[in-house]
Amino acid sequence: MKVSFSSAKAATSGVAVIPVFEGNKVFGSGKSYYDASKGKVAEAAKAAKFTGKSGQSFDIFAPAGSKVSRLHIVGAGKKDDFKAEIFAANVAKKLLFSGATTLNFHLDGIGITPDQAARAGVGARLASYRFNNYKTKLPKEKKPSLTTFRVTHDSHTKAKKAYDNFHGPVCDGVIFARDLVNEPPNAIYPKAYANRIKKLADLGLKIEVLGEKKMQTLGMNALLGVGRGSERESQLVVMRWNGGKKGAKPACLVGKGVTFDTGGISLKPGNGMWDMKGDMGGSAAVVGAMMGIAGRKAKANVIGIVGLVENMPDGKAQLPGDIVKSMSGQTIEVLNTDAEGRLVLADALHYGRTKYKPAAMINLATLTGAIIVSLGSEHAGVFSNDDGLAEQIAAASGSSGERSWRLPLLPEYDKLLDTPNADMKNIGGREAGSITAAQFLKRFVGDTPWAHIDVAGTAMKNRRTDPRETTFGTGYGVRLLNHWVAENFEG
Ligand code: BES
Ligand code: ZN
Ligand code: ZN
Repeated sequence: MKVSFSSAKAATSGVAVIPVFEGNKVFGSGKSYYDASKGKVAEAAKAAKFTGKSGQSFDIFAPAGSKVSRLHIVGAGKKDDFKAEIFAANVAKKLLFSGATTLNFHLDGIGITPDQAARAGVGARLASYRFNNYKTKLPKEKKPSLTTFRVTHDSHTKAKKAYDNFHGPVCDGVIFARDLVNEPPNAIYPKAYANRIKKLADLGLKIEVLGEKKMQTLGMNALLGVGRGSERESQLVVMRWNGGKKGAKPACLVGKGVTFDTGGISLKPGNGMWDMKGDMGGSAAVVGAMMGIAGRKAKANVIGIVGLVENMPDGKAQLPGDIVKSMSGQTIEVLNTDAEGRLVLADALHYGRTKYKPAAMINLATLTGAIIVSLGSEHAGVFSNDDGLAEQIAAASGSSGERSWRLPLLPEYDKLLDTPNADMKNIGGREAGSITAAQFLKRFVGDTPWAHIDVAGTAMKNRRTDPRETTFGTGYGVRLLNHWVAENFEG
């Protein structure tokens, strides 16, 4: 998919997409060269009962003399509510299979910023994303026809810069993350996943893979316990990007990468278990974020760490009641082998904190079903030991459009993890399930400013409401993390 930026005059082929705000009598902007206020266009609008409301559209042949083939005139709603990214996503979704190969989004002359114009490119790409790797008999009409998005804008050079230097590479990361989540568990198991990550070295990332032997010598028994029932070797992958000042403390991103979560001996019910191929969505966000960070050559030092394991029942699997010693030295009574993500993160967080001494640490994880009960699929849950960091994340949610909502931590919740048999147990009981999971993680981060983002409801979805989200894997988190790094570690 090609995204380009140019002046309106350069739109010389394909379909011209013309946004029209509600109540606007003149179609096409002052600067774009379609005067559609009279003649055939005005007649067609009347016939289509077109008023500019969002969702309305009609097509006409291009007026004589113009080089494009047709005009797709689209209601853009109220001007104050206009979001170029969503607009472009909706149009791309509608015309993806239409036979058109090139779209010209006429965002010139309507008073939007170059950054907004750049985001239109992202909206179009995300809405066009499909995961067809395993379709051997895809009929031609099910193959997208669109290949080129041209965004026209008065400051198209600035828009191109915003796209090339930020939004484009970040979008590459979102798409990479979606692919990882959508891939089946027989393609993405820990080693195969680590191999995919290794390819990102081409972008200048330093990649290091720790196998089970190395993790044993480090004492990562909480993580290793989860993988014990699996034939696939567990992996811990570290990605390093050194784009900032030498010696400046890094940001550290940590991800849960359970490539499949059967629940282990505390086996999940079979119905819908296939969703658990997406239980590596937190790690996919971290990998995608690192791809974006490297792709846009961020001026920051950032460490990405993902713990990759497959949670399986087996003769060798860990048992409910097992007590394991984590790398931090704290002991954990594993009362439910299905609460495995926190065990993986306990060691990954401790490793990140002690080895890289980060200025701040954020982990992402499809950690609890309970967060879906609380927030559905619209917000991720944020938990933090640091109000400043929590505010930064809220700000990054605003600028990236990836919604999140903070929930509380308290000593009273922490107490629910007490057990007579070890330093803690890995479940808290029926109440406040997302919070007790977060309290568990908090025990492994010391006094490092830290936040946990529970993405169980946002990283994978079976229902489609947003035109940019076209598949099970959404890539949630990649944009949020890039905005957070850009807003707090660069410049
Ligand atoms: N991977 C699941 C959480 C999950 C559930 C993600 C549904 C996405 C959709 C996690 O490992 C898990 O099984 N959590 C348990 C915790 C419980 C045993 C304390 C849960 O949420 O039921
Ligand atoms: Zn589980
Ligand atoms: Zn899980």
